[in-house]
Amino acid sequence: MLEEIQQIESTALSELASTTSAESLEQWRQSYTGPKGRLKALMPRLKDVPPPEKPAVGQRLNALKTTLESAFDARKAALGSAAAAPAGPAIDLTEPGLVRSELAARRHIITRVRDELVDVFARMGFAVADGPELEDDEHNFIKLNIPPDHPAREPSDNFYVDNPATAARPRMLRSQTSTVQIRTMERMVAEGSGPPMKIVSPGRVYRPDTVDATHSFMFHQIEGLSIDRGVTMQDLKSTLLHFARAYFGQNADVRLRPSFFPFTEPSAEFDMKIRLRPDQPERWMELGGCGMVDPAVLEACGIDSEEWTGFAFGFGIERLAMSKYGIPDIRLLYQNDIRFLNQL
Ligand code: DAH
Repeated sequence: MLEEIQQIESTALSELASTTSAESLEQWRQSYTGPKGRLKALMPRLKDVPPPEKPAVGQRLNALKTTLESAFDARKAALGSAAAAPAGPAIDLTEPGLVRSELAARRHIITRVRDELVDVFARMGFAVADGPELEDDEHNFIKLNIPPDHPAREPSDNFYVDNPATAARPRMLRSQTSTVQIRTMERMVAEGSGPPMKIVSPGRVYRPDTVDATHSFMFHQIEGLSIDRGVTMQDLKSTLLHFARAYFGQNADVRLRPSFFPFTEPSAEFDMKIRLRPDQPERWMELGGCGMVDPAVLEACGIDSEEWTGFAFGFGIERLAMSKYGIPDIRLLYQNDIRFLNQL
């Protein structure tokens, strides 16, 4: 009987070593250590063993039980969660990661349109200028020829940081990128690097508008300024036309409508005739404001208005992007919903 026990032990252990799943482990348990297993079946046979051999066989049986049970526990632990998981191909950790293209990062639509606009103007010889979003009333209003009693300076229409009634030079979030005209003229005059100068400046502006489908308290504008000797309204119009054709295609057109801005004289609003999508007719779209830089603005920045003239223009980036991409609500641009952003 000792031989038989020895044989059962070695088969049991080798079968146990080849179990690979929770099911095969359970099958093994049932055929060896379970209540109907071979170990249990051996026990009653002890009484047939001749008395002198009984202690040795009994000990051997106990040893077999301990061996098989602890081998079972060890195997179960070794298979662990691997046994719980469905059988499948082993994972090769050296394989390159799966690239899920729908999760790839992309630039925001406003950033893309801004860069496209800057690109077109850069090809027309405009440098990019930057200015602070936290401004003061000197750059946002005074030097732009917007007088103290002008309605555009109302506290309810601006994000003042200091009290405009008491502060000497109240700070505010800029309400227009025209501030960068002033910043650029001041800087270039101080450096002695201009005029002439030709810049565009894209950036954020802030106004306490009630948010709806077409208004936001923050949006983007792009500003243009060109100062040289003998610059005329014709240069302004041809620059806008050139831009329109470069950005929207050769059928685009531009028209100016007389208007008023404190910092330009004469002033105009400009529309562009564009076909936004191939399946749509061309139509006129109001884009922004423009004009010849008012001599008072040039003088405020230390530029001799007898020698130099210039034109300026500014327009909103959101409106353009929304028309071009068929976006019905400006709020979609700022909610950062990945399902929306991934469509553009
Ligand atoms: N700053 C104006 C606005 O926010 C737009 C504008 C009009 C800019 C005329 C200009 C300009 O440079 O010449 O409504």
